Amino acid sequence: MSTKKDYLKETIQHIDIKKHNVIPLVESFKDMAFQARNLYRAAKYYDMMLEDKNCSVILCLAGSLFSAGLKNVVVDMVRNNMVDAIVSTGAIIVDQDFFEGLGFKHYIGTQWVNDNELRDLMIDRIYDTYIDEEDLRICDETVGKICDTLEKRPYSSREFIWEMGKYLDKHGKNKESVVYEAYKNNVPIFVPAFSDCSAGFGFVHHQWHNPDKHVSLDSAKDFLELTKIKLEAFETGIFMIGGGVPKNFTQDVVVACDVLEKEVPMHKYAIQITVADERDGALSGSTLKEASSWGKVDTTYEQMVYAEATIAMPLVTGYAYHKGNWKNRKKREFAKMFL
Ligand SMILES: NC(=O)c1ccc[n+]([C@@H]2O[C@H](COP(=O)([O-])OP(=O)(O)OC[C@H]3O[C@@H](n4cnc5c(N)ncnc54)[C@H](O)[C@@H]3O)[C@@H](O)[C@H]2O)c1
Repeated sequence: MSTKKDYLKETIQHIDIKKHNVIPLVESFKDMAFQARNLYRAAKYYDMMLEDKNCSVILCLAGSLFSAGLKNVVVDMVRNNMVDAIVSTGAIIVDQDFFEGLGFKHYIGTQWVNDNELRDLMIDRIYDTYIDEEDLRICDETVGKICDTLEKRPYSSREFIWEMGKYLDKHGKNKESVVYEAYKNNVPIFVPAFSDCSAGFGFVHHQWHNPDKHVSLDSAKDFLELTKIKLEAFETGIFMIGGGVPKNFTQDVVVACDVLEKEVPMHKYAIQITVADERDGALSGSTLKEASSWGKVDTTYEQMVYAEATIAMPLVTGYAYHKGNWKNRKKREFAKMFL
């Protein structure tokens, strides 16, 4: 029988957008058709967001993106002032990013494998990628440990993730982390469904052992904070991968401002890379044109790209990186609003 070591050999390597100037490739997509032309337009709109002096950029992430090698794309976006706020699923931020910040790795695997054997060895599988579940359990426990050290009260996920950044600053083993980089650059990260990932186990442990007084999460506070950011930013562009909760949460801040009787523009730019389509009426595949009927997204600069993110995201982001308009942007540092 194989051992754990036989399976966990080669690690996933994160793509470095700085190394590949994709401008000529993406520009050649302009006169093609289908998703090539859509991707060109999305890349152009992202670059326009960065060139627009008044536009703040919100990045929305869903899917198993960082375990698949996209983590450093976002690290570079944060480092180079290409994003002002992030809204994500918990799996990306905790199970994948914070996890690697603690020094753990994702491994190259295959979907053609005996999953019962993986189960026996405590190896978890995401399609063709393996994770050592014993490492993941340390990640869960670390979240619980952070809870134990904090004042016992409700927190927004943004506040809690800031504490995770502080933890990595002191104890982290890999500084290529979005949580760490965002902490350093005052870029707020929101995870509206925070317990639906590794962090949930840490919270269950912490609350079970501290039934009367404990750290809890306040998802309404997340929404209020993101709404305050929209009020402060006024003009915004959203760059969405996948869809899911982060997509709706971010689109909805426009409506939240309206509920507060504050006038703000709809998201001026909106691009989304997804494999979901609109036939089932669900949120992830709903077009940005449809979102405009809800008063959330302006239709002038919106573009859906129906593509898998590991291929499309480095192209869209790499295009804007090499165009260099981010060099002239002012830093928003929205996290400072809440210090
Ligand atoms: N994905 C995981 O490995 C994982 C692990 C633990 C917990 N969770 C939790 O499950 C919930 C759902 O998260 P989710 O990440 O699975 O997203 P999701 O299932 O909500 O995905 C949203 C949409 O994104 C699309 N999508 C996903 N990956 C894509 C890709 N690579 N390229 C293009 N489109 C893509 C999907 O088709 C779907 O329509 C979250 O709360 C998360 O924290 C997920």
